[in-house]
Amino acid sequence: MPAQHDIAAETELWDTFAASAFKDDAEPNFCWTQYAGHGPGPELLGNPRSVLEIGCGTGRALAHLARRGVAARGVDLSAVMVKKTTTKWAGTGAEFVCSEVLEYLSEDKEVYGAVYSIFGAAWFTDPSRLFPLVRQRLGPGGIFAFSQPPAIPGAYGPQGMYKGGFAGKAMFTYRYSYRPAVWERLLTRAGFAMAEARILEAPHPGHIGTLLVRAVAP
Ligand SMILES: C[S@@+](CC[C@H](N)C(=O)[O-])C[C@H]1O[C@@H](n2cnc3c(N)ncnc32)[C@H](O)[C@@H]1O
Repeated sequence: MPAQHDIAAETELWDTFAASAFKDDAEPNFCWTQYAGHGPGPELLGNPRSVLEIGCGTGRALAHLARRGVAARGVDLSAVMVKKTTTKWAGTGAEFVCSEVLEYLSEDKEVYGAVYSIFGAAWFTDPSRLFPLVRQRLGPGGIFAFSQPPAIPGAYGPQGMYKGGFAGKAMFTYRYSYRPAVWERLLTRAGFAMAEARILEAPHPGHIGTLLVRAVAP
């Protein structure tokens, strides 16, 4: 049976996450991995004039790019998070929109130099619906890149995830996990000219690595 997304319930989950994850004293920072200072930086996006981050959360990556002169827009499901990021990063020029990503991309008319997700909406959205919409928002040679944890061996497709411990209100979402070759196939099927997915090792042997995926529009 396919995942049964309930966007209203997922919004409540992410609003709860926003209340604890957002730090008022955060600094702009762009890191694809879960380890500070580890792995490549924004150069994976090429040299775009404009970017869209999907599931932009705390907005730190967008603030980093905006400060370097990139037209930086983020979309996020959580109104709580978007209110906080809009206030916090107002001075950088980054722009934050509250919307579900599929809904947003279906309506958006903008063409971006790059679209990206860092443990963001690309992890929590059905790729067969998301990737064609992202592809349409990129100009020739535009980049789509995302990072998230690698799949747990044998656990592929939509994975149900409860919020927090296993007690209290039943809030859950789905996240999508596949082997690198499958991510590449999904991207080329969605119309990307080139797709590369790889697993970057963690800084410490045996720790959780990072799935890094990069695709180029024709
Ligand atoms: C793990 S957090 C974000 C990580 C982000 N890189 C950061 O620095 O905070 C995932 C974010 O994706 C957003 N999200 C999840 N599903 C989404 C969807 N369907 N549409 C838009 N945003 C979504 C959540 O609201 C949340 O802020």
